[in-house]
Amino acid sequence: MSLLNTLGIKHPILLAPMAGVSTPELAAEVSNQGGFGSLGLGASSVNVAHKQILRTQELTDQPFQVNFFCHESSALNSEVSQKWIELFADKLKEFGADVPTTLNCIYPSFKDNDDFLNLVLETKPKAVSFHFGTPHAHQIQALKNAEIITLVSATNLAEAKAIEAAGIDIIIAQGIEAGGHRGIFNETFDAAITTSDLVQLIKKNCTLPVIAAGGIMNGHQAKQFLKLGADAVQLGTAFVQCKTSSANDAYRKALFDQPLTQITASISGRPARGIINHWHKEIDTPNRPAVPAYPYTYDLGKQLHAAASKNNDYGYGAFWAGANVSEIRELEATDLINQLILEMQF
Ligand SMILES: Cc1cc2nc3c(=O)[nH]c(=O)nc-3n(C[C@H](O)[C@H](O)[C@H](O)COP(=O)(O)O)c2cc1C
Repeated sequence: MSLLNTLGIKHPILLAPMAGVSTPELAAEVSNQGGFGSLGLGASSVNVAHKQILRTQELTDQPFQVNFFCHESSALNSEVSQKWIELFADKLKEFGADVPTTLNCIYPSFKDNDDFLNLVLETKPKAVSFHFGTPHAHQIQALKNAEIITLVSATNLAEAKAIEAAGIDIIIAQGIEAGGHRGIFNETFDAAITTSDLVQLIKKNCTLPVIAAGGIMNGHQAKQFLKLGADAVQLGTAFVQCKTSSANDAYRKALFDQPLTQITASISGRPARGIINHWHKEIDTPNRPAVPAYPYTYDLGKQLHAAASKNNDYGYGAFWAGANVSEIRELEATDLINQLILEMQF
């Protein structure tokens, strides 16, 4: 069966799930236009995730995917976290915020318990995708039994092979150009393969359908990936500017004003590509102390961003964006999908 039939979509275009940016409105717009809408729910509570899925189902009768994080949860190293908190203590005070005494695990992994699994089984979206690894075998089996399609991001061939061996249905080939968090399974190792090399590598060595993700901003580029063997493309950054995303004004402005991106682990504890700001310039220095594990680091990152924003300093925001952000266009999601389809014809 073709990937379009499997997913029940007209066009081989997926909206990337984007925690903190996705909304039911954006997901529904993409799905209603014949693409595959998505909800990034990795940073949501079960309750909020539930509401978002129900709202999306009210706005569209077309298929869409939901997305969760599948990292290996680790305990907080108190020595590392104390040194990290100390590094930001003066900044937090300068912005009038309290200095935390410890860091919290602000999001659980899908693997920590079956709460998100049960939510998916109850609400039955067409598909569920995962970042940072594969779910437990019993979770994959439960999704299979419920006929919910599974997708996982791979950034190298070893991850793609592990995804295939785990019984997942579709591989998302996330190249180094991609905006947001690297989907790497082991946060200390990144092969940094380009999207086009990765698509070809996985296509040659695996049998599952492959979706290309990373640096795709227009239909001409999308078509090139289909020619290389990708079964579909997934775009994130291109959709962040859409009115129905939840990006704030500072983020929207940065997308059009600042064309340079870089990967840093200092914001969340895991490497992620975003627009260069204070984090990259001031903190990502060779003498920086060790970064606490994901997502503990993100707890401090979010506190600092909140405090700085109150003082009109938006330089500590996580403005995730792909390497080709300079090609961003101001278009509503419906128009962007139509434009992509048109460009893919030529
Ligand atoms: C703002 C933003 C947030 C993201 N959040 C997630 C997420 O929650 N889950 C996920 O699997 N991928 C996430 N990603 C990565 C995307 O799935 C995808 O790999 C990436 O957007 C593709 O590169 P592009 O942004 O250049 O199109 C995010 C990307 C961006 C730009």
